[in-house]
Amino acid sequence: MTDASSSPVPPVTIHRSDYRPPEWQVPDIALDFALGLDTTRVGAALSVVRHADAPAPLTLRGDGLTPLAVRVDGESWNDWHMAGPDLIVDLGDRARAIVEVDTAIDPTANTQLMGLYASNGMLCTQCEAEGFRRITFHPDRPDVLSRYKVRMAGDKTAFPILLSNGNCVAKGAGDDGSHWALWEDPWPKPSYLFALVAGDLVVNRDSFTTMSGRKVELGIWVRAGDEGRTGHAMQALKDSMAWDERVYGREYDLDLFNIVAVSDFNMGAMENKGLNIFNTRYILADPDTATDLDYDGVQGVVAHEYFHNWSGNRVTCRDWFQLSLKEGFTVYRDQSFSADMGSAPVKRIEDVRLLRAAQFPEDAGPLAHPIRPDSYQEISNFYTATVYNKGAEIIRMMATLLGPQRFRAGTDLYFDRHDGEAATCEDFVRAMEEGGAIDLTQFRRWYEQAGTPRLKLTLSEDQGQWALDVVQTVPPTPGQPEKLPMMMPLRIAAFDRSGGASLPDTLVTLTGATQRIALGAFDGRPALSVNRGFSAPVIVDFDRAQGELAWLAAHDDDPFARYEALQQLMLDTLVAAAAGNEVDHRAVVDAVAQTLRGRGEDPAFVAEAVLLPSEAFIGDQMLTVDPDAIRRERLALQAAIGRALEEEWRAILAGKAPPATDLSPHAKGERRLRGVALAYLAATGIGDIPALVFGVFSDADGMTERQAALATLAHGDSDERAHALDIFYQRYRDNPLVLDKWFQVQAWSMRPDTVEAVRQLAEHPDFTLSNPNRVRSLYGAFTGNQAAFHQADGAGYRLIADLVIALDPRNPQTAARMIPPLGRWKRFDEARAAMMRAELERILAQPGLSRDTTEQASKSLL
Ligand code: ARG
Ligand code: ZN
Repeated sequence: MTDASSSPVPPVTIHRSDYRPPEWQVPDIALDFALGLDTTRVGAALSVVRHADAPAPLTLRGDGLTPLAVRVDGESWNDWHMAGPDLIVDLGDRARAIVEVDTAIDPTANTQLMGLYASNGMLCTQCEAEGFRRITFHPDRPDVLSRYKVRMAGDKTAFPILLSNGNCVAKGAGDDGSHWALWEDPWPKPSYLFALVAGDLVVNRDSFTTMSGRKVELGIWVRAGDEGRTGHAMQALKDSMAWDERVYGREYDLDLFNIVAVSDFNMGAMENKGLNIFNTRYILADPDTATDLDYDGVQGVVAHEYFHNWSGNRVTCRDWFQLSLKEGFTVYRDQSFSADMGSAPVKRIEDVRLLRAAQFPEDAGPLAHPIRPDSYQEISNFYTATVYNKGAEIIRMMATLLGPQRFRAGTDLYFDRHDGEAATCEDFVRAMEEGGAIDLTQFRRWYEQAGTPRLKLTLSEDQGQWALDVVQTVPPTPGQPEKLPMMMPLRIAAFDRSGGASLPDTLVTLTGATQRIALGAFDGRPALSVNRGFSAPVIVDFDRAQGELAWLAAHDDDPFARYEALQQLMLDTLVAAAAGNEVDHRAVVDAVAQTLRGRGEDPAFVAEAVLLPSEAFIGDQMLTVDPDAIRRERLALQAAIGRALEEEWRAILAGKAPPATDLSPHAKGERRLRGVALAYLAATGIGDIPALVFGVFSDADGMTERQAALATLAHGDSDERAHALDIFYQRYRDNPLVLDKWFQVQAWSMRPDTVEAVRQLAEHPDFTLSNPNRVRSLYGAFTGNQAAFHQADGAGYRLIADLVIALDPRNPQTAARMIPPLGRWKRFDEARAAMMRAELERILAQPGLSRDTTEQASKSLL
C-alpha cells in the first residue's frame, strides 16, 4: 500500500505495433472515497461490457494495490487472481457485469506524486499517464472512456473543500464532523483525466459566458494568502476561452471550470476534465514575486490546459504512442494564443530558442525518438521536447502548407469527426488532408523519422539568373540508420542589396533530397533570407559572408529572419573563436549597435536580437564541445560589446524603468532590454558596475528587475553579490516560488566554484528532495550551466549522478528527467565522455532502480 510495493519489475518494452482494441469497455464507473491523509479507502464499481467476441478475463491494472474485497453483480467473488501488480477477474461467459473492488492507499507515503497524494495537508491527484492504477484497479488505458460518479467523504476541518470533475450534484454532513460531496461528470473520459482535490482552499471566482450563451462559473483554488496572486491566471483563462471560440470555433462544455494550484507537482499542470490541477508556479503571480517571463508562463500554461478540453479531452488519444496528437497540437495552439496576446515575432523567437535548446540536442542524442514513438518502457519518459515542441512544429508546418482557411477546415473536420473518440495521429493527418485538400503522404514521415533534417544551401548564377540548390539529409538516429527526405514548407525571399527588385516572401514546398529553386535575375549575389519565421524545424547550412549577414540583420523585412541573421553572425564568430581562431569582434559590435538603434520602437525584439547565443547552442555547432573555450570566448565577446557600446547600455539603464505593474509588451520589452544591458556592462569588469547593478536591485519595484540584477551579481564575486543574495533570502524565505529563484541564480553562476556551491546549497535547510520545483531550481539550473556541469574533473557529473541515486527511490519521474544531460557524452572529449559514461553505469548499478531511470540511463549509454 506504499511506494515500496510498486517495486521495480524487469523492463518490458511496449510496441506501438502491438496495439489491440480493449476487450472490455467500462461505460460507467462509481467511485467512493473515504479520505484520510494516511489512509484513504477507495470503493470502485465498474460497469463492464465485453467487446471481445469470445469470453475473456477482465484485466484491471494496478500499481502497489491490494484488493480488499471483490464483488461481481453484488455477490462476493472468488474467481480472481493477481498477475504481478494487476488484478485479473474471471467473469465466465458474461458479456456485462458490475465489478466492485475495494482498496486502501496511503497518500502521505506517495512520494512519487502519481495517483492520490498529499501535498501541504491537502489531497490531490495526478493520473496521466498511468497514475489512476495507483488509486484503484482499472484498465487504465486512454481508449477506455467512462462516465464518472464520484462520492468523497472526509473530515470537514481537514478537508473543507471537496472537488472532482464535472458538477457537484449533492452534498451533506455526517454527525461525526465529516462531510461529503457527490460529483458527476456527464462527459465520458479516460481514467487519466480523473481528478480529485480535498483540502483547505480559498477561491477566486469569476464567470465566462460562451458564444452560445452558457454561463460558466470559473474558480481558481489556492491556499489562504495566495488568492491575491491569481488575477493573471484568471484573465488568461477568460482570454483562452474567448480565443478558442474565435480561432477554432470551440466552446466550453460544462457549467463549471475549476483550477487548483498545488506546490508539489512533477510537471507544469494537468488538464483533468473541468478540474485542472496546476503547479503553483503556473498560477501564482504578482509584480513583487513574479518576473515578466513568469507571467508569460502562467498565461501560456493556463491556455495550454484549457485548450486541451478540445484537443485532448473531447478528442483524446487511442494509446500513449499518440501522445503528440494532443500535446503537439495543444502546444501549437498555446503558442498561437500567446503570439496573438503579445508580440508575435518575439514569441516565435522564444519558441525557436526553446526548440533549439531542448529538442535539437534530444534529436541528436541517444534518446532521439520520432514524435510518435515506436516503443517505450516507461511512458513518463516520453513527455519530451520532441513530443511536445517538435510535435507543435509539425502541426505548424501543416498550417503553413494549408494556409489559415484550409487549416481551419481541417481542424473542424478533425474535431467534428472524432468528438468523443480516442483518436490517432493518422486520424489528424487524414482530417488535414481531406479538410485542406492536400496530399500529405510524404509529410507523414515527420511522424515516423527522428532526427533534425539538415538543409545544405548553395547559390549559383547562370547569365544573371540566380538559383538556390537545396540538399536535404536526415541524420541516422537509434534504430533508424536510413532516412528518406521529408516534405516541408520553406519560406524564402531574396534581396538585391543595391536597391534593385527583390524576390518577395515565397513559400516553397521541399520534397526531394535535392531541389533547385529559381530566384530570378539579380545584379550580383542577392542576400537570401531563408527559413523565414522558422517555417521548418531544420538546421540550415549556408555559408554567408559577415557583410551579408549584417545587411540582413539590418534590412530583412521578416523580424525573425533579422534575428536569425544577427544570431548567425554572432555564432560564426564564437564558433571560430572557440575553435582557436583569431577573430575580430567588430562586425558583431557594429550589428548590435545598429540593432540597438531601433530599440525605441520594439525593445522586446531588440533585447532578443542582441542577446548572445547560449553556451550550449554554440557547443551544438562544434564537432567536439569545448565548454571552457566556449565560456571564455563568449565572455570575451560580451565584454567587447559591453565596452564598445558602454554609453548605450548606461543610457538604457539611466532611463526610468516602467512600473512593474505595467505588463504591456512595450514595458516588458523595456525591462528585458535593461536586463540585457546589465549583463553586457557586468561583463566589462568596469569598477563601478557592481554598485550600479546593486542599485538596480535595490530600486527595483518588481521581480523582473530584481531577479535580473541578482542573477547578474551572482556571476561575480563582489561584496554586493553576497549582500544582495542575503537581502533576497531574508525577504522571500517564506515564499517557496521566490526561494526557488534564489537557488536558481546561484546554480546558474559563471563563477568557477559553482559545482561546490551547488553541493553546499543541497545541504541548505531550505533545500528538499521532496519538492520537484526545488530540485529543478537547483539541479536543473545546474545542468543548464554548461561550463559548470562539464567541469573538467567530472565533479558536476558526480553531483548529478548522486542526485539521481538519492531521488530515484522517492520520485523516479523527476529523477529520470535529470539523466539526459549525462547522455550527451558523445559530443565531448574522451576524458569527459568516459566520466559521463562511468556515472551512468554507477546509476545503473544501483539495486532496485526504477523503470523510469533504468530506461533513460541504459539508453543513454548506447
Ligand atoms: N498533459 C499534461 C500537459 O501537458 C502533462 C502531464 C504529464 N504528467 C506526467 N506525470 N507525465 O499539460
Ligand atoms: Zn499538454
